[in-house]
Amino acid sequence: MDVVNIGFVGTGGIARSHARGLSAVPQARIAAAADVSDAAVQDFAAANDVPRVYADYRHVLDNPAVDAVIICLPHALHAEAAIAAAQAGKHVLCEKPLAVSVAECDAVIGACHDANVNLMVGHTHRFIHEHTRAVELMAAGAIGQVLHIHDSIIGATRHKDLGWRGVPALAGGGVFMDNGVHSADRLRWWVGSEVTAITATVGHYGARTEGEDHGVAHLAFANGVTATMEISLIAPPPLGRCRAVVTGADGAMEIATWRHLKVATADAEEWETHTFPQNRSQFAREDGEFVASILENRQPLVSGEDGKRAVAIVQGIYAASESGQRVCLPAD
Ligand SMILES: NC(=O)c1ccc[n+]([C@@H]2O[C@H](COP(=O)([O-])OP(=O)(O)OC[C@H]3O[C@@H](n4cnc5c(N)ncnc54)[C@H](O)[C@@H]3O)[C@@H](O)[C@H]2O)c1
Repeated sequence: MDVVNIGFVGTGGIARSHARGLSAVPQARIAAAADVSDAAVQDFAAANDVPRVYADYRHVLDNPAVDAVIICLPHALHAEAAIAAAQAGKHVLCEKPLAVSVAECDAVIGACHDANVNLMVGHTHRFIHEHTRAVELMAAGAIGQVLHIHDSIIGATRHKDLGWRGVPALAGGGVFMDNGVHSADRLRWWVGSEVTAITATVGHYGARTEGEDHGVAHLAFANGVTATMEISLIAPPPLGRCRAVVTGADGAMEIATWRHLKVATADAEEWETHTFPQNRSQFAREDGEFVASILENRQPLVSGEDGKRAVAIVQGIYAASESGQRVCLPAD
């Protein structure tokens, strides 16, 4: 195989980002797409020159020309589609969250393992330049031992109709299952360890959603690092739409996603600012990694296990908030 033929399952907002990403991956072709919305799938097909379109995604899975699928559905539909794709012998790139419970994540991982197909999870933040540079600098000791990270992802969509995202039965929760799962994944990656204890308070403060729209969690990692996570639909954007501040024993870092990376050593007077091209090219790198993993017959960079760990952290946050108790997760 020297080209990977991709089928899209769901052709809404993020599918368009993946299609743009794939246009920069010479070894990929979009072979088919499905969406229950005829308008969505027709627009997608016209914009991306897709030869076969369907209303029912099972026809994508039955199409022998399709080698792999990118699942871009509402969260509660991920597990069923990913398992069906694996059983049809298709490699799977599933958007985040991998599924809406740890048990469902296990079922997806098991189905992909049994079918011997690759499973990658769309944790896009792993492919953003300011993030990968931050990891390189932390590994090189630029700020000494990492002690704590405060991570905030703020949507500022208080007045917006959130569609399926505002319905927990489809979204698997509120803003933590949607955006907090990005934070859970990137914190695990940056810290290089697993979360072992969680306390949290999440609630609803007025956004147009039935799920939680704001909250704060405290995470303790097995290697001694701590993190706080503030995820919100209602906090004002000047607080920083997607921003992490890292405290190190010998310096600090500000990782402002889609803006810049700033680094200061312990005795510095000023931040040193690193900037990167802001062209959403992370999708080209993410989709390129998925395609390369198939062609090279190896595991992709972001595994099903990574997807499951992020969901376990979000579920732990919900359990901690509901019970008022500290929730412990396994370190291995
Ligand atoms: N990685 C990122 O940065 C990022 C950003 C946005 C969204 N996402 C993720 O992408 C996924 C989709 O989000 P979105 O923003 O594209 O949502 P969306 O609402 O724009 O698109 C979802 C599409 O799925 C279709 N659909 C619903 N049920 C279907 C079914 N049974 N069969 C076929 N199609 C069906 C809808 O008609 C819609 O076109 C979610 O998991 C979301 O969390 C990831």
